[in-house]
Amino acid sequence: MDKNKKGSLVIVGTGIQVGGHTTISAQAHIENAGIVFATVTDNLSKQWLDSLNSNIVDLTQYYGDNKSRIITYQEMTDAIVNAVKKGQRVCAAFYGHPGVFVMPSHKVIEQLLAEGYQAKMEPGISAEDCLVADLGLDPGRTGCQSFEATQFLFYQRKLDVNCILILWQIGVIGDHTLKLTKTDSYHLGLKVLTEELLKYYPDGHEVIIYEAATVSIFSARVDRMALIDLPKAELTAISTLVIAPLGKLEFDVATLDKLNLTIDDVKRN
Ligand SMILES: C[S@@+](CC[C@H](N)C(=O)[O-])C[C@H]1O[C@@H](n2cnc3c(N)ncnc32)[C@H](O)[C@@H]1O
Repeated sequence: MDKNKKGSLVIVGTGIQVGGHTTISAQAHIENAGIVFATVTDNLSKQWLDSLNSNIVDLTQYYGDNKSRIITYQEMTDAIVNAVKKGQRVCAAFYGHPGVFVMPSHKVIEQLLAEGYQAKMEPGISAEDCLVADLGLDPGRTGCQSFEATQFLFYQRKLDVNCILILWQIGVIGDHTLKLTKTDSYHLGLKVLTEELLKYYPDGHEVIIYEAATVSIFSARVDRMALIDLPKAELTAISTLVIAPLGKLEFDVATLDKLNLTIDDVKRN
């Protein structure tokens, strides 16, 4: 860090329920910043941020119809970097955890640190944290695999059916253009994903379309259906697909043997 460089950046998460899920530390950073860049989308969250700081810049202005999100993310990054370079005390607030499936937040920190500025990220409550609570699925019991849905389709991944599977951004699955702002083109991607998953799970295996409540007085969306019916699901920009583990974990007898252990030694109820 170069002490002569005045500008600084803190990236915070506002959580899924803005206000209620925002940490005390994140709120203090928002209140004390000279300028706050924010990506929250609903009016309630915007009003809440406005009540904390009178200098809020809405980063969602950079999204556009038929515009690649790569360009949008670069513009967001540039806006934040420029404010820091002007010597401002900058806070950038992204919904959920600011480092989970958020490209500009990591990019901007990397760039500013490389140029000698102070830049850090604080954690927030992500959609995954909410689903652990709402669906009663503990990743520690079976393990958990978490993928961006389109990436899961486009690349060869090793699927472990005996752990929880979380597929993010299912509402834009199959979009190779990165231009979609609406979730109305997912049907082919969802059909192909279902065919892929049917190679691993029986057609009656339960899958869940999950949407955490963004306002505390509402309930989460938890739509359970058989895998075979997944292509009929109605998806939105905040839908996440969750698949519960299929079977029991199998012991790795060869490795146990190397540890001088038997299955009986390590078996838990
Ligand atoms: C760009 S990522 C942002 C994730 C966010 N940073 C977080 O920490 O949860 C958007 C994806 O997150 C998931 N997501 C966002 N809000 C959600 C919600 N309220 N309930 C369930 N999943 C959500 C969906 O998979 C959505 O497509």
